[in-house]
Amino acid sequence: MDKTELLFYTAYEEFYTMAETSNAFQNFCREAFGEDFSQDGFSNLTQIDRILPYIPKKEQAHILDIGCGNGKMLGYLQEKTGAWIHGFDYSGQAIQTAQKLYPVKAEFREGIIGEVEYEWESFDVIISMDTMYFAKDMAAFVAQVKRWLKPDGVFFVGYQEGDVMPKTEGVHTTVLAKALRQNGMVYEAEDITEETYELLKKKRAAAEKYQAEFEAEGNKSWFEMLLGQTECVKEEYAQFKEKMARYLYVIRK
Ligand SMILES: C[S@@+](CC[C@H](N)C(=O)[O-])C[C@H]1O[C@@H](n2cnc3c(N)ncnc32)[C@H](O)[C@@H]1O
Repeated sequence: MDKTELLFYTAYEEFYTMAETSNAFQNFCREAFGEDFSQDGFSNLTQIDRILPYIPKKEQAHILDIGCGNGKMLGYLQEKTGAWIHGFDYSGQAIQTAQKLYPVKAEFREGIIGEVEYEWESFDVIISMDTMYFAKDMAAFVAQVKRWLKPDGVFFVGYQEGDVMPKTEGVHTTVLAKALRQNGMVYEAEDITEETYELLKKKRAAAEKYQAEFEAEGNKSWFEMLLGQTECVKEEYAQFKEKMARYLYVIRK
């Protein structure tokens, strides 16, 4: 497949090139999210820490991150648990960085959702933060993820509506929830929309704090992108929640 035809492909190559070299962006991530995971999304440290209890405390635990970017979330989870880390992303730039940063007990692949394959029942935990939206056929991709999970494995998803996906009624009406039910997967979901509204405010304030640093690096356009992404917090929460929602799903086979 010609990757340049995929949604946002070129933008993500540019994003991960900037993320590797920009001190302003790394400072912004630490300030907004509590840790620099080169986030292009909504996942702060609190959300990522919620994954830790699901990672078995054993030498040979294996975790996969779908849409792993430059691997920094996986690197953090490995540091906390000692697990093997695996990740794939369509951005070659991001995967090169991940391979450089995390050479031990790690495997990173350049790959496209729906095309990449792993051995069945390989993973104790599979995570996907703000990436499931890019599956062209959500039900088929969820079926594939189910095959990759060990029988008692956990699939942890951070899922935003009102951004790439349209806002639906609630946690059980998302495209993901429908695909999970189609595949007979059980889930618990937490609505963290209000927490996300506060996070986006923090993200905007952090961008503004590092504006001069972004500009001095020649990265003004990325600063402007961050402001654009957080325009929505100019509205009161009551209006915001009509248009946007965020859920954390903990899913079992
Ligand atoms: C919103 S970002 C989230 C990245 C990271 N998980 C996070 O939470 O910060 C989406 C990620 O999915 C990757 N991606 C987008 N479409 C993809 C596709 N079709 N196949 C593989 N990766 C894709 C992007 O390169 C990017 O790293």
